[in-house]
Amino acid sequence: MPGGGAVAASSGMAGGRKSSIVGIGMSCFAAFGGILFGYDTGVISGVKEMKFWLQTFGYPKNDGSGDYTISTPDESLIVSILSLGTFFGALLAAPMGDFLGRRFGVVGACLIFSAGVAMQTGATAVPLFVAGRVFAGLGVGMVSCLVPMYQAESSPKWIRGAVVSCYQWAITIGILLSGCVNQATKDRNDYSSFRIPIAIQFVWAGILAIGMFLLPESPRWLIKKHREEDAARALGRLLSAPPTDPDVRVEIEDIKANLRMEEEIGQSSYADCFKMGPNKVLLRTLTGIFLQAWQQLTGVNFIFYYGTTFFKNSGIANPFMITIATNVVNVVMTIPAFWAVDHIGRRRLLLIGAAGMLVCEYLIAIIGVTISVENQAGQKVLVAFVCIYIAFFASTWGPVAWVVTSEIFPLAIRAKGMSMSTASNWLWNFGIGYATPYMVNAEYGNLQARVFFVWGSTCLGCLVFTYFCIMETKGLSLEQIDILYQNTTPVKSVSYRDQLIAHNVHAADDEAIRKAAGGDSRFTNEKTSQASAQEKV
Ligand code: BGC
Repeated sequence: MPGGGAVAASSGMAGGRKSSIVGIGMSCFAAFGGILFGYDTGVISGVKEMKFWLQTFGYPKNDGSGDYTISTPDESLIVSILSLGTFFGALLAAPMGDFLGRRFGVVGACLIFSAGVAMQTGATAVPLFVAGRVFAGLGVGMVSCLVPMYQAESSPKWIRGAVVSCYQWAITIGILLSGCVNQATKDRNDYSSFRIPIAIQFVWAGILAIGMFLLPESPRWLIKKHREEDAARALGRLLSAPPTDPDVRVEIEDIKANLRMEEEIGQSSYADCFKMGPNKVLLRTLTGIFLQAWQQLTGVNFIFYYGTTFFKNSGIANPFMITIATNVVNVVMTIPAFWAVDHIGRRRLLLIGAAGMLVCEYLIAIIGVTISVENQAGQKVLVAFVCIYIAFFASTWGPVAWVVTSEIFPLAIRAKGMSMSTASNWLWNFGIGYATPYMVNAEYGNLQARVFFVWGSTCLGCLVFTYFCIMETKGLSLEQIDILYQNTTPVKSVSYRDQLIAHNVHAADDEAIRKAAGGDSRFTNEKTSQASAQEKV
């Protein structure tokens, strides 16, 4: 078996801590893509309330006030069309990321995004503005898939969770930033009031594109393209070591051995993403798709998209300030996740987060239906629980959903799996955003605060889903995650993962895998049969 024994002895270069600082910095930089994501999704809510925007895209009210308004169909088209773009953008990310590479895929996405920003900045009528939102959405959708994938493929395993969590942190900062920029320009007495917050996105795209241009390509993508020497050079740059460094060579062998095994099992098309088999690709694909769906079903965007209105209807004195407060909680409480995701672990964090959100959401619903709008003390308690709920999301499901989907797919189908999972996130994002007013508003479902009973119940779904479907992957290399999937179940994954670490198991190291399985023949048989299949190549 090529590379087998040598690989087994390695701790994996990306696993070593001695010279990883540059690599960590580089993969953290890619998180800048999160600013695009957060800012672009957040900016429209403020922009569409601005006087000069309404004058440009709306029509005069017929109440003699001289104010302008926008028709409901135009408003809902402008707001929701972004999700259509992001959904298709996420799907497009797979061919882009596989063909151009993860790095140039992001650069391409920035160009498409900038075209969308240019259209929106220059638009003087609804159709061009809508077209601009579609293009910007395409770019954001691609970035939202390619950035965490690039980060996971390029960062050291012991800190991969924290690096991908930086991306979520950037999303939260982007949302907050959009609120601040809108606040700063909204009272300007000309068209710059809305054009500045839109055009500023050129800066985010420019920084991301130039940065990605300068960063090394993902070594794993280069191996997939059989560009071994380029991969060694890229890995060397990430680890501040020459491409000939023995540790670099060992890790390259590890990635190659794993890819060979995946190719032997035969998986690279979209149909292959839904196949059963020893590599449990079907489970992995469905886990990614449903994890992102459940992340949206926590109901978090109810607060970010609809919070101001909800707080206003609940009788809260300053709903705008409370919305900003929830944004700040979201930013600040993502920070503990940097540590927690690689120490407490993915699975435990998701379980804790789902349980915490569930309790908060039921309490919000109960308080909301029992207190009157005049009861200011009660409103403060309600706001406090909303903030605790956001804190639970920010420190668990926010980052961990992205961390898990960026690492569970085998290399051969990683771009496709990741892109379908991200598209699922955007589809549910759209569906929930679209359905919410109908569920909550008096003239339709009139759920008001009772809607939190719905979100509380979906968090119960999150809990059950995590327990049965999420593997513990903290501290494992992407190649070790393959071994984990091949040999255990989510419920038993915590102890099996500990064994993988304890026995320093690597791709194609059958002896170590046997030890990790602790003599469980069910585990060893699966692995050994794949190994012998590979032996025949
Ligand atoms: C979610 C977004 C959400 C954001 C809030 C992201 O992980 O995918 O839908 O708006 O977190 O911080």
